Amino acid sequence: MNKKIISPGFPVSRLRRLRQNAAIREMVSETTLNAKDFIYPVFAVPGKKVKKEINSMPGIFQLSVENVLVECEDAYKLGVPAVILFGIPEHKDEYGSEAYADNGVIQQAVKLIKKEIPELIVVTDVCLCEYTSHGHCGVIENGAVNNDKTLELLVKEAVSHASAGADIIAPSDMMDGRIGAIRKGLDINNFEDTPIMAYSAKYSSSFYGPFREAAESSPQFGDRKSYQMDFRNGEEALREIYLDIKEGADMIMVKPALSYLDIIKSAKENFNLPLAAYNVSGEYSMVKAAAKKGWIDGDKTMLEILYSIKRAGADMIITYFAKEASLLL
Ligand code: PBG
Repeated sequence: MNKKIISPGFPVSRLRRLRQNAAIREMVSETTLNAKDFIYPVFAVPGKKVKKEINSMPGIFQLSVENVLVECEDAYKLGVPAVILFGIPEHKDEYGSEAYADNGVIQQAVKLIKKEIPELIVVTDVCLCEYTSHGHCGVIENGAVNNDKTLELLVKEAVSHASAGADIIAPSDMMDGRIGAIRKGLDINNFEDTPIMAYSAKYSSSFYGPFREAAESSPQFGDRKSYQMDFRNGEEALREIYLDIKEGADMIMVKPALSYLDIIKSAKENFNLPLAAYNVSGEYSMVKAAAKKGWIDGDKTMLEILYSIKRAGADMIITYFAKEASLLL
């Protein structure tokens, strides 16, 4: 439907009439934001009683499994319906073996959360970069990430997460064909009811900097530009999303969010699957840093950003602000 802008023009039209007080502004506000829109990222590490704040992300911690549970309980009590888990292994190796180990840190965390808070939706990030010694998201061969060999490991990781009880599998590696491979792998292992949230349009972005400190996942050579998307491209994002849907994605994602509101909007306009946007680490850290210096109002800026992501068309927002924002909404 094309809406027509019909207006007699000034002075008959005065748009300020509907802005004159808070009650009227509330009545005509177009966008809602609520704790139930959020997915809260949590970083799980091996060990006991670990609660280590991430230098570049004040308020966000690396947590051992029992503290992961406490963090999840806090979020759940605030009305946040879902968490997304990232794991840092005990040992990294070339093939990221701990990513698909039965007793890996994610597998332990998922089991504990699902036992204690069964209503909380547990999404797991499926990727190898946190687990590989070289920090890339796949298998290295001749100095490059080999797509098809990586798929085999991603399938093992996804099935392992689902076996531990993960509610939703979220592959973030950006290999070609991963959604189809993971769907098939889940299905033949009787996880045909486990949904896939595809990081479909994931850009190669400097905004991931603080996350890589948190997840200890910086590439040890080169960068991720041969698999993550070029930020100059918008049409290509639609091709990525289209292919993921054809391969069986149940939900799609755009990441990062703030510099990519146009991509969120066109994803929403072109596809009818639930759409997530990832308000990434750098977007969080910039607000925190500027607020600490007194250069911006941290709370107000946070809400403005989250509303803008929702207004652009996201149905859900993965955000480190989930707890703080829920307290204010
Ligand atoms: C793993 C992954 C990354 C993020 C989510 N999953 C990092 C990367 O691709 O380098 C980034 C999230 C954030 O910055 O908050 N591949």
